[in-house]
Amino acid sequence: MSRELFVTLSAGLEEVTGQEVIWRLPDSRLLAADSGKVFFSSDASPEDTLGLRSVNHVHVVAAHLDGIDSGAQGLEQIEALASAVDFLPGAFASAEINPWKTDPPTFRVTGYRSGEQEYGSMDVAARVGAGVVARHGWPVDLESYDVEIVAYLTDDRLLMGTRLTREGSLHRRHRVGVGKSTLKASVAFSLCWLADLHGAQALVDPLCGAATIPTEAALQWPHLDVIGGDRSADELDLARRNVELTGAAVSLCRWDCRELPLARSSVDRIVSDLPFGRRVGSHQKNVHLYPRMVREMGRVLEPGGLMVALTLERKLFTRLIDRSPVLHIERVIGISLSGLRPSVYLVRRG
Ligand SMILES: C[S@@+](CC[C@H](N)C(=O)[O-])C[C@H]1O[C@@H](n2cnc3c(N)ncnc32)[C@H](O)[C@@H]1O
Repeated sequence: MSRELFVTLSAGLEEVTGQEVIWRLPDSRLLAADSGKVFFSSDASPEDTLGLRSVNHVHVVAAHLDGIDSGAQGLEQIEALASAVDFLPGAFASAEINPWKTDPPTFRVTGYRSGEQEYGSMDVAARVGAGVVARHGWPVDLESYDVEIVAYLTDDRLLMGTRLTREGSLHRRHRVGVGKSTLKASVAFSLCWLADLHGAQALVDPLCGAATIPTEAALQWPHLDVIGGDRSADELDLARRNVELTGAAVSLCRWDCRELPLARSSVDRIVSDLPFGRRVGSHQKNVHLYPRMVREMGRVLEPGGLMVALTLERKLFTRLIDRSPVLHIERVIGISLSGLRPSVYLVRRG
């Protein structure tokens, strides 16, 4: 049975998710991509859609409508629309993954809002909830709900659906815990995808933290030699436990990324999430760290090798690559991540 689905992800990485959808669920058809969302139709089972690794959440589309008023009348429109929508197909799909505890199922609504409305996301959620009660008579249970309905209001556009995933990608996958600056697993996967790992041999993440990138790489591309290292013993302890949890074949090493114990030209891929200098560290520390780090990455990368680096230090990083005699930037992709706007750099060793 073909369903219309939408997945959420870090805005800027829609191209990766579109490619992953077609690769992993080949019977799918891409319908649209919007900032942080990809829409597609698919015959895949709900369980199979959860195999998508570049996404935060997976949903069955219930309805979308443009022209929602930004004033109080908008809330009336939202409730009227929700009461006219059949949420049962999405609820049945969700039950294939998390069977209902009661029949009829309990539900909750999570609302998201961006734009210039006179009301908030909680108002949107409440009105959608009222519509669902009017239509289906399901009881609300905010804690141990059977069905999660989502409502995204973006400017005047309302999108409603049923969520199939229970937790977002920061907590969902292979985590015994998260560190100070742990990356979303979905973004880690997308960075690996951009590194074109199918034909690669070895991947190094010289600042691996909780090993999110090495774990995604080793699980998805088991032919790779994957090495992760970090200076922090605490992060490496977390990395070890995360790697053990999944059985991913990752070698971990405590090191300083400015002096890697790796031979010149010995790896063909580096994928790393560099210190942003925000939650941990500072711009000043990065000014000291980045020059030797970039030089060292250039040393261990083999000619023709590719580095995929995520950073908020755009000026600093670009200046260093521009000055490097061996590295050059092939592509830059701006993304949205937890309220910040870092960039992904694809850097080739000449
Ligand atoms: C942005 S975090 C990486 C987070 C990681 N991707 C994850 O998901 O947990 C940057 C990491 O760089 C490490 N780091 C900072 N300076 C370093 C250095 N000189 N050598 C090695 N690692 C360093 C920090 O300990 C931190 O874990």
